Amino acid sequence: MQHLMSPLDLSVEELDKLLTLANDIEQNPQKYAHACEGKKLATCFYEPSTRTRLSFEAAMLNLGGSVLGFSSADSSSASKGESVSDTIRVISCYADICAMRHFKEGAPLVASQKSSIPVINAGDGGHQHPTQTLTDLLTIRSLKGRLDNLTIGLCGDLKFGRTVHSLIHALIRYPHMKFILISPEELRVPSYIREDLLEKNNIAFREVERLEDAMGDLDILYMTRVQRERFFNEDDYVRMKDFYILNRKKMALAKEDMIVMHPLPRVNEISVEVDDDPRAAYFKQAQYGVYVRMALILTLLEVEVC
Ligand code: NCD
Repeated sequence: MQHLMSPLDLSVEELDKLLTLANDIEQNPQKYAHACEGKKLATCFYEPSTRTRLSFEAAMLNLGGSVLGFSSADSSSASKGESVSDTIRVISCYADICAMRHFKEGAPLVASQKSSIPVINAGDGGHQHPTQTLTDLLTIRSLKGRLDNLTIGLCGDLKFGRTVHSLIHALIRYPHMKFILISPEELRVPSYIREDLLEKNNIAFREVERLEDAMGDLDILYMTRVQRERFFNEDDYVRMKDFYILNRKKMALAKEDMIVMHPLPRVNEISVEVDDDPRAAYFKQAQYGVYVRMALILTLLEVEVC
């Protein structure tokens, strides 16, 4: 694998190896502290981010490497009209690996075709977010002990939420996964996911509107934010934004060992009163994001640590 554009760029075996490496990094951070000395990561972010950009940077710094980059389109030459193809050719002269986030679907793919260094898609519009998926898989495997025979509820903005799209692509490859898609009618998963992925592959799934109708069945509840920046008008966003609010009362309907995940940032969809519930896993999930990005950087740079 030279670049990471979609979670499907990794086979299930490669993924397994990567997650095992991430767990080893978690257990033995010192072993990896100098693994990327002398190497540079460029973070090219044309769209806002806190976790993804900083967790990439933390990952490279934890490996003894260094980081450079920009955190908005305004502060890069994109504002002067430079194409991503030209930008990546230049970045290839400065860094050994690049994580790119872009508001346009497919932009990191275009960049990867012109790049001489590995490019990681750090989120492209409403399309994919493969490193969040790696984070999610590591969280599930670490906290639930497996990636099969689980019922996962994906709740919120399933139409524009790229983390959900990538996660479904990745999880349907494991046996006996069941999906409950919880969204208002207007924010259902795109039909290419429902028809081409779920129905064609005979994956068990159902769509519901009320969180209460799914809660008791779930091993994992994956909450998402309504993606304000992808709405065409503000009124629709305002109407949708508080459709789901997970609170203590709803948590009482869930299994005792269910886990609650969220890619973050959260807005109102999880009440802060849930944060103290032992089933709340979203801050742990953010920590797993650093380990898995460390494992990904090592893998793409083909650095072996004995
Ligand atoms: C997600 C994203 O950017 O898609 N955030 C993240 O990377 N953790 C989710 C979101 O913004 O809602």
